[in-house]
Amino acid sequence: MSILRVLTGITTTGTPHLGNYVGAIRPAVAASRQAGVESFYFLADYHALIKCDEPARIHRSTLEIAATWLAAGLDPARVAFYRQSDIPEIPELTWLLTCITGKGLLNRAHAYKAAVDRNAAAGDEPDADVTAGLFMYPVLMAADILAFRAHKVPVGRDQIQHIEMARDIAARFDHLYGEHFVLPEAVVDEDVALLPGLDGRKMSKSYDNTIPLFLPREELRRRIASILTDSRAPGEPKDTEGSALFQIFQAFAAPEETDALRNAYADGIAWGDAKQLLFERIDRELAPMREHYRALVAEPARIEDALQAGAARARAIATPFVRELRQAVGLRSLASLAVAPTAAKAPARQALPSFKQYREADGRFRFKLLDADGTLLLQSRGFANPRDAGGAIAALRTSGDTALPDVAPMLEALPPGIEAETVNAALRRLADGA
Ligand code: TRP
Repeated sequence: MSILRVLTGITTTGTPHLGNYVGAIRPAVAASRQAGVESFYFLADYHALIKCDEPARIHRSTLEIAATWLAAGLDPARVAFYRQSDIPEIPELTWLLTCITGKGLLNRAHAYKAAVDRNAAAGDEPDADVTAGLFMYPVLMAADILAFRAHKVPVGRDQIQHIEMARDIAARFDHLYGEHFVLPEAVVDEDVALLPGLDGRKMSKSYDNTIPLFLPREELRRRIASILTDSRAPGEPKDTEGSALFQIFQAFAAPEETDALRNAYADGIAWGDAKQLLFERIDRELAPMREHYRALVAEPARIEDALQAGAARARAIATPFVRELRQAVGLRSLASLAVAPTAAKAPARQALPSFKQYREADGRFRFKLLDADGTLLLQSRGFANPRDAGGAIAALRTSGDTALPDVAPMLEALPPGIEAETVNAALRRLADGA
């Protein structure tokens, strides 16, 4: 059974606020720690360009968002954490997908339709101020997902249609060119708290009612003091129902703490005191992260290094896969043309070598390559996690011996009596036959 691959993108515009933290960042970081999943989280900076043409803001926001996710506990050793624009295979795949995507499908995308409706309402041309980038948004997003054969894509409700489009696009490609893609599924977390903002409406940049995540402590206190409450005096019982303050508290507190606040409301706690409790509770969770965030932002080169390592990991998957897709659509080396007719006439296929992946008593994950008759051809060293072992296998399987130099550091010496050329030939046969 293959490992569940989970992938999601984070658009790099704006500064993260408490609503983003509770609704997206915190649950995603927790999910990335689950065993048995292989997570891909990336900064969707190509998508950010669709919404923003200010280079300094794009740059700053990329830094802040990367630092936020790392400070919130995303572990780049467990999760492939990378920047979309560091993966040239994504725009490359975007084009392959663009060429098979119906324009009519894109006409139906909510974001595009909303823009057209706004123009109609204003009496403008239907496409006034609509860029081709906005129109193509769903194809770029499909490439993000499909390039990594992700199974599950955690997103907000507003993104479900995009995942459905990615499935449609993948199915169309596969119909034309053979089976290549995993059809992704959207995962929408129904339990996740929708945080109210200062005025009680949903916390959102567009309502200007947010509490930025890493405000200095005293500014956080001031923001919290500005949460709208009713005019009940100290001593008067207060309603938890409809209280933004209570809901925000609940999103951070353990159930016992929430019960205690509920009792305090019934006992007529003064709003000022309730705000102080909320401030202390949030600050308790955020203070260590805030420290970490400040340290990261002060050393952007460290973040860059982490992103580059993430990109290398992501490309170890995307590069051979997109190579396979180029082959599939006919973007092929001409040198292969001469051998094609003979290959077509080739006699019944030779049985192929195979990989075996397993876990040993030391808890590490290994694989070996066996020839069709069971002869051991390659033996890997132990990997700390199954994803890395799987990644190495995938690279060898799709790229054959050309992947060997990359994988070599994780291999044991050749088994006695096995020549390098035997292994190379077996890997090539496997890649050609795959
Ligand atoms: N469009 C997503 C959003 O606005 C961000 C995104 C870009 C994304 N590419 C993705 C999400 C791929 C999931 C998978 O939230």
